[in-house]
Amino acid sequence: MKINGKDTRTIWPAADGSGDVEILDQTLLPHRVEVVRLRSMADAARAISTMQVRGAPLIGATAAYGIALALREDASDATLASAHATLLATRPTAVNLAWALDQMTACLSPLPPAERYAAAMRRAAEICDEDVEICRRIGEHGLALIQMAQAKKPGERVNILTHCNAGWLATVDWGTAISPIYQAQAAGIDLHVWVDETRPRNQGASLTAFELGQQGVAHTIIADNTGGHLMQHGLVDLCIVGTDRTTRTGDVANKIGTYLKALAAADNGVPFYVALPSSTIDWTLRDGVAEIPIEQRDPAEVTRMTGRTGAGEVVTVDIAAPGSPAANYGFDVTPARLVTGLITERGVCAASEAGLAGLFPEWS
Ligand code: MRU
Repeated sequence: MKINGKDTRTIWPAADGSGDVEILDQTLLPHRVEVVRLRSMADAARAISTMQVRGAPLIGATAAYGIALALREDASDATLASAHATLLATRPTAVNLAWALDQMTACLSPLPPAERYAAAMRRAAEICDEDVEICRRIGEHGLALIQMAQAKKPGERVNILTHCNAGWLATVDWGTAISPIYQAQAAGIDLHVWVDETRPRNQGASLTAFELGQQGVAHTIIADNTGGHLMQHGLVDLCIVGTDRTTRTGDVANKIGTYLKALAAADNGVPFYVALPSSTIDWTLRDGVAEIPIEQRDPAEVTRMTGRTGAGEVVTVDIAAPGSPAANYGFDVTPARLVTGLITERGVCAASEAGLAGLFPEWS
């Protein structure tokens, strides 16, 4: 996708051939577009835990390059194992992290140490390229759902609600939930996106709105509690969100607040779709509410906000009563019964064990 008209990915090997890796620092968006260089595994781990990179597929891609950066220093078994453990501990909910680390370890551990670093850079690049292709296909399958919504109201604009950022900034390119929207835009469908601001870190207001604006997609930022009202008044045709971990039974963990949107959608008969690459499916889990680990982050993310002053300075301010405690649950789980369908790289299926097994028989 584009920033200021220039094709950009969220992560790439530095063009100078140094072996360093570059990322867009998403903590600075939308106020500043800045590239940060990752020189070591520790840099990659820090980028994930501080959310310079975030979004399930991008976390996995960054961890893959983190392994390569560790092996550049020392390609021993011990370093491979400790880099895997350090990167795995950076964030708990998105299973793409474990998936990518397992891919890297399976590919590298059988190799002699002298061959590992080059192989790691190659495998990390492949993981990125695969993610781009998978997200493009998710977009194609999701486009059919937007076309169906369009067919129900010929000549009228299709309104889609999304939560958090599951656009290209959350992946290597294209996005998951937003990829169908980009494909629909390219197909000439008249559409508009309701963007949940997504407190506490405002990924909707700062990232989704930024990328939709850069691509010229019509959108409106709304306070997180607005979706139910819009649905009651027929102003949402469908919801599409992403997910950080989906169970084999179709329960989906996504950014905190997703569950409440799914409840409102069910109450109002609005289709609620979840878009995901298969690397987000945790085939070991059946009960999302009981089993998916939910990240709890610094309460200061709730009691403070960062923004740009009229003078152009980016500042962080306290917004809460001094001394009041805050809780910061990063994700919630939407049970499969509230999900109309899962949009994957292999097609759209019911959010159920049978639905997923139909598309991914190798896991059934
Ligand atoms: O905390 P974040 O910003 O990493 O959370 C991101 C989300 O919840 C996304 O919706 C999810 O990772 C799907 S990304 C394609």
